[in-house]
Amino acid sequence: MLRRPRRNRRTSAIRGMIRETHLSVDNLVQPLFLVEEMNVREEVKSLPGNYRLCLNEALKEIEACLKLGIHNFILFPAIPEKYKDKTATYSYRDDNFYLQHAKEIRYHFPEICMISDIAMDPYSVDGHDGLVRDGKVLNDETLPILTRMALAQADAGFDLLGPSDMMDGRVGAIRTALDEAGFIDTGIMAYTAKYASAFYGPFRDALDSAPKAGDKKTYQMDPANQREALIEAELDIQEGADFIMVKPALNYLDVISLLKNNTETPVAAYHVSGECAMLLAAAEKGWLNLDRAVEETLTCIKRAGADVLITYFAKHYAQLAKKQVLQGMIHEPKPTVRQRSNIFNK
Ligand code: PBG
Repeated sequence: MLRRPRRNRRTSAIRGMIRETHLSVDNLVQPLFLVEEMNVREEVKSLPGNYRLCLNEALKEIEACLKLGIHNFILFPAIPEKYKDKTATYSYRDDNFYLQHAKEIRYHFPEICMISDIAMDPYSVDGHDGLVRDGKVLNDETLPILTRMALAQADAGFDLLGPSDMMDGRVGAIRTALDEAGFIDTGIMAYTAKYASAFYGPFRDALDSAPKAGDKKTYQMDPANQREALIEAELDIQEGADFIMVKPALNYLDVISLLKNNTETPVAAYHVSGECAMLLAAAEKGWLNLDRAVEETLTCIKRAGADVLITYFAKHYAQLAKKQVLQGMIHEPKPTVRQRSNIFNK
């Protein structure tokens, strides 16, 4: 045999030299769920290790993440039923706790990247991302609501706004409104290829935001489609998106790769709640090693082409990196140093 690929896998040092993908904590975004009341740190049952947090607990959590090198956070609100209505008016009200918490977080941690969520679902009695009339999710009538939400969030100090609603034209509407109001530095991380997925379950548990009737298939993409993601990417980029996102991540690695290879805009991947819950559940049963599975999963999402990874394992990964127990690092397995005969001892 003239060629033996195994030669390049023989030692940790050689494997390190030719490793193509290096995941860094810089690439990671940690999601946080916020609640209005004080003194709350309540675990999400379907997503162990993740909590609904009051403002104080969120500040503590961010501080802990910063110590581990995580600088990027995406915030979601758990909205009490009493604030919900047809048109999501609470989403941009001055006394909205999500906006107030964000301002506090901004004040305490000016250096972090703080990402928002724009969609009507947590604020809507219908639980849909857009305005519902006669059982239909309306597109153009939703845009002004999303725009008001965007302006309120920009004002609260978010660095990047995350329209996750999949309405047509929303990136352009939001960009125009932001610029007109002078928020030229507030960016948009568009949920470009967001699929109608079964893997959002634990998230909807955490926020109590599941649709009251029907599903999201008239606005979120069909999991069977790949090329349609190019149309969405083209539109979002034309309309001013600073990041384009694929969501979920693992069943959609081909879509991540497609967008990476056909655009110049940074690609984010959202490793969603259900995908993380699968690993946690299997690990709880002792069916796989969580640390190894997390490292492999995140590395492979990056290999597919994601520049940014939003994952509930951001902190977990950062802890592994700090302990230097990652397989993709030179530290493992420890190279054995051969005992040398010392010629000066003779
Ligand atoms: C809301 C939104 C959802 C997620 C992020 N923003 C749920 C949905 O569209 O139903 C899912 C995130 C996750 O599952 O981790 N528009």
